[in-house]
Amino acid sequence: MTMTTYNQISVPSFLYGTAWKKDATARLVQLAIESGFSAIDTANQLIHYQEALVGEALQSLAHRGVPREALFLQTKFTSADGQDHRTPYDPRADLTTQVKQSLDSSLQHLRTDYLDSYVLHAPFSRRGLGAADWEVWAAMEDLYKSAKTKMIGVSNITAAQLALLCEEAQVKPMMVQNRCFAVTAWDRQVRELCQEHGSIYQGFSLLTANPDVLAASQVRAIAARQGATPAQVVFRFAMQVGMLPLTGTSSQEHMIEDLAAERITLSADEVELIETIAL
Ligand SMILES: NC(=O)c1ccc[n+]([C@@H]2O[C@H](COP(=O)([O-])OP(=O)(O)OC[C@H]3O[C@@H](n4cnc5c(N)ncnc54)[C@H](OP(=O)(O)O)[C@@H]3O)[C@@H](O)[C@H]2O)c1
Repeated sequence: MTMTTYNQISVPSFLYGTAWKKDATARLVQLAIESGFSAIDTANQLIHYQEALVGEALQSLAHRGVPREALFLQTKFTSADGQDHRTPYDPRADLTTQVKQSLDSSLQHLRTDYLDSYVLHAPFSRRGLGAADWEVWAAMEDLYKSAKTKMIGVSNITAAQLALLCEEAQVKPMMVQNRCFAVTAWDRQVRELCQEHGSIYQGFSLLTANPDVLAASQVRAIAARQGATPAQVVFRFAMQVGMLPLTGTSSQEHMIEDLAAERITLSADEVELIETIAL
C-alpha cells in the first residue's frame, strides 16, 4: 500500500527510523530492507543518527540488486542548536547556505543525487514562525524546485505553526513528522490540517509515547480478537486514521511483526475506541 502527497508523490505505508542505532545502523538498515521495508528515515545530525552508515547500507544493498529507485529516502536539516561540534555545514554561514550545505552533505552520505523527502527537523520558534523559520523554509522550497528532493516537510511542529506555514508558504509541506501521543487524540489537530492540505502525517514514538495504551485492557482485547499484538493494533490504527507510522525497532522479529500490521483490519468501533482511549 502507498500514500500520495498533494504533488502526486507515492510514499510507502511504513517508515523504518534509524535514530539511536549508532554503529548498528548499517546492519539494521539492511535487515529492515530485507525484511520488507522500503522507506528509511534519517537525519544529518550525528548526536542521534548515523546518516553515513545508512549510505553504507544502501551501497551494499545496491550491490545486491536493490536499486536506489526502489527505496524512499528521507533525511532532515537540523539547525546548529540541535547539533554538537560535528555540525555538517558551516554554522557561521547564513541559514540559506546552511540548508544547502546540509543537503549536499546528506546526498554524499547517502550516496545518491536526490532525496525523496527533505525535512526541517524543527522550527526555530516555539510559538509562531519567525524570520529564521521563513528563511530556512524558503531555502527548502528552492531545493524542491531544483528537484534535489521530491518532497519537503517539517517535524516537531504545532497545529498553529502548521496552519501558518500552509497559509503563507510558496510550497506547502508535503509531509509532517510528529511525536504522536494518545492524550492529544493522537495529534488530531495536526493530522486534520495535513488531511486538509494533502500532506502526509508521519507519526513517531507511537509505541514508546503510549505505554498505557499498549497495556490497556481494551487494546489487549482488540489484539486478542484480531489475533494480533497490541503493537500491531496501534500501528494498524495509525494507518487506518491516515497516518504513515515509523518504527525504530532493532529486532527482525519486530520488523516483520510491525509490517504485518497492515494485514489486519480494525472495525470503525475499534478505531474510534483507540482514537479516544486517552481523552
Ligand atoms: N523528527 C524527530 O524529531 C524524531 C524524533 C524521534 C524519532 N524520530 C524518528 O522516528 C523513528 C522511530 O522512533 P520511535 O520513537 O517511534 O521508535 P524507537 O524509540 O526507536 O523505538 C521503538 C521501540 O518500540 C519497540 N518495538 C517496535 N516494534 C515492536 C513490537 N512489534 N513489539 C514490541 N516492541 C516493539 C522497540 O523495541 P525493539 O527494538 O526491541 O523492537 C523500541 O523499543 C526514529 O528512528 C527516527 O527515525 C524522529
